[in-house]
Amino acid sequence: MAALRKLLSSVLLAVLLISETNAIPSSAPYSHATHHRRTVGRRALKLEHYNPPSTFETFGEGLVQAATFAPGGLDTEARTYAATKLKVDYNTVEFRSGFTRDKARHGYVRQKINGIPVANAVANVAYMDNKVVTFGSSFVKPSCNIDKIADPKPTVDLKDVLSKIEEQLEGKYNNQPISLQYLARPDGSVALVHAVQIQNEQVNSWYEAFVDAHSGELLSATDFTYQASYRVLPIQKQDLRGGLELLVDPHDPIASPNGWHLLRGVATTTTSGNNAIALKASQTNLTSQSADGLIFDYPYDTSQEPATTINIDAARTNAFYIANRVHDLAYRYGFTESAFNYQVEGDFSKGGKGGDRVYISVQDSTGVDNANFAVGPDGLSGTARVYIWDKTTPKRDGSLDNAILVHELTHGITSRLTGGGTASCLQSLESRGLGEGWSDALAEWTEQKDGVVRDYVLGDYVLNNTAGIRNKPYSVSKDVNPLTYANVADDFEVHTTGEIWANTLHNIYAKLVEKHGWSSTAMTNPDGSEGNIVYLHIFIDALSLQPCNPTFVQARDAWIQADFNRYGGANKCLLWKGFADKGLGVQAGNYVNDFSVPNDCA
Ligand SMILES: *[C@@H]1O[C@H](CO)[C@@H](O)[C@H](O)[C@H]1NC(C)=O
Ligand SMILES: *[C@@H]1O[C@H](CO)[C@@H](O)[C@H](O)[C@H]1NC(C)=O
Ligand SMILES: [Zn+2]
Repeated sequence: MAALRKLLSSVLLAVLLISETNAIPSSAPYSHATHHRRTVGRRALKLEHYNPPSTFETFGEGLVQAATFAPGGLDTEARTYAATKLKVDYNTVEFRSGFTRDKARHGYVRQKINGIPVANAVANVAYMDNKVVTFGSSFVKPSCNIDKIADPKPTVDLKDVLSKIEEQLEGKYNNQPISLQYLARPDGSVALVHAVQIQNEQVNSWYEAFVDAHSGELLSATDFTYQASYRVLPIQKQDLRGGLELLVDPHDPIASPNGWHLLRGVATTTTSGNNAIALKASQTNLTSQSADGLIFDYPYDTSQEPATTINIDAARTNAFYIANRVHDLAYRYGFTESAFNYQVEGDFSKGGKGGDRVYISVQDSTGVDNANFAVGPDGLSGTARVYIWDKTTPKRDGSLDNAILVHELTHGITSRLTGGGTASCLQSLESRGLGEGWSDALAEWTEQKDGVVRDYVLGDYVLNNTAGIRNKPYSVSKDVNPLTYANVADDFEVHTTGEIWANTLHNIYAKLVEKHGWSSTAMTNPDGSEGNIVYLHIFIDALSLQPCNPTFVQARDAWIQADFNRYGGANKCLLWKGFADKGLGVQAGNYVNDFSVPNDCA
């Protein structure tokens, strides 16, 4: 683990300095351990990894660079500033990327020698209102030892050595463009290299290999797979009483192929990524890694108020983890880019829009004793506001109650999947009641630890009351929970309506698990035939089938159809019996119960 942390800190160095303006430590200059050897793959290949040390300066209010300020675009400005600052020729500075966010502009450049880019010599400059606020650089000074720079003409062809390199890195060339680059070495020399990507999807490895263009040797490799650790409540735990655990790399490589911290090609070191951003009060008030290498290790101090700094960090870390975990599991069951999910980037070739990760505002100041989710149509971010609960001393934080987080995030899923991404098809009272029901039901689903179906109570932690925030536990016992479809008519409050639906689904879940068994890997493997997997497939599939503003009866019909579509109707009678048992039988309508099932199920 220690070796891994070192590896990651080194790999991330280039991006550590640039990812989030407000997260950068104000002390300057910034220095870092930068050189080590590491072991790669099953054959334990020893590989050097070297990033020249970076300098870093921060300028508070910012510097007006009158002499060097070159209006004409971020690329020209960043190149001019870096060249002037580092006293190098403008033509040896190549613009790589940049972006503008609010008033901040960020430019990223790379050093060139003999017209060839140096892979590990980069610089970054940030502006606020046209003033330079930070500058970081790992440019090398080759002029001091000109004889140490390799000849710019390769003498070894990559194709002659590629199979050897693939074998060393235990993967295959992935057809991404190959480039000729320079690579600064720890001894001060500069090697000429072929940069080639080697990938192995089975073991989730992905490297950019640097192959000496004069000797054919593998000199170094950048590891694109980031492993991150978070001290959080594993999603199966309901709330803080279960205890935080340090989870290593909980991302799902299929749902989040670039991990949770790559944002528009730039690795973040905060609770901000492609799927979600967990913040307090503002987009720049995030939790930063507690140690190099994407380690977010913030214990929660239950003797302190939630607003204590360490507890805010624990809250943001847990909210970030849960938002990503829910993204990944919903993705596995069909809430993908083309199905209008929440992501900044992804595979939008099949439809759907980007630029819309989920915002989770922890300890949001706009309320207490609750949480909510503003869904946003596809292409616009959704925002979950999670509040502090003031029923206890110290107060309790909804962001340390996984059921509350999953409940809110599920509003995003159901609102987007119903009606094709518009987020405007769960608006009628009855359909909003269904929405509350799905949200409770998915929270319950994520917390199952085995095939035993227990009564489920939501929100008992934040209230410090065993009854929780709903009227009755969800239960297979009619004594514990007698609600039926007819109760919808009693009271059109969306949560009480939701309880009827959630309890119906609880009973259907129990029947499916009884019939098909239970899978412990359902969250990452949707291919099994176990009952909890079947349940979630039908759950998600039905959302896309049902009409805009569905009724209970229409939602039931969508479940029956979803089972037909995916399983050929194998669960038709089980589902009918489950719904009919709660008054949603064949003739149900207008909030009048019917307990009958189709003739072929009787
Ligand atoms: C940002 O969060 C810290 C705790 O991490 C808090 O002390 C500070 O007041 C917050 N700033 C804003 C603007 O909310
Ligand atoms: C929670 O409730 C229990 C039992 O009513 C009580 O003893 C305990 O002090 C409460 N905890 C807090 C933090 O208020
Ligand atoms: Zn809700």
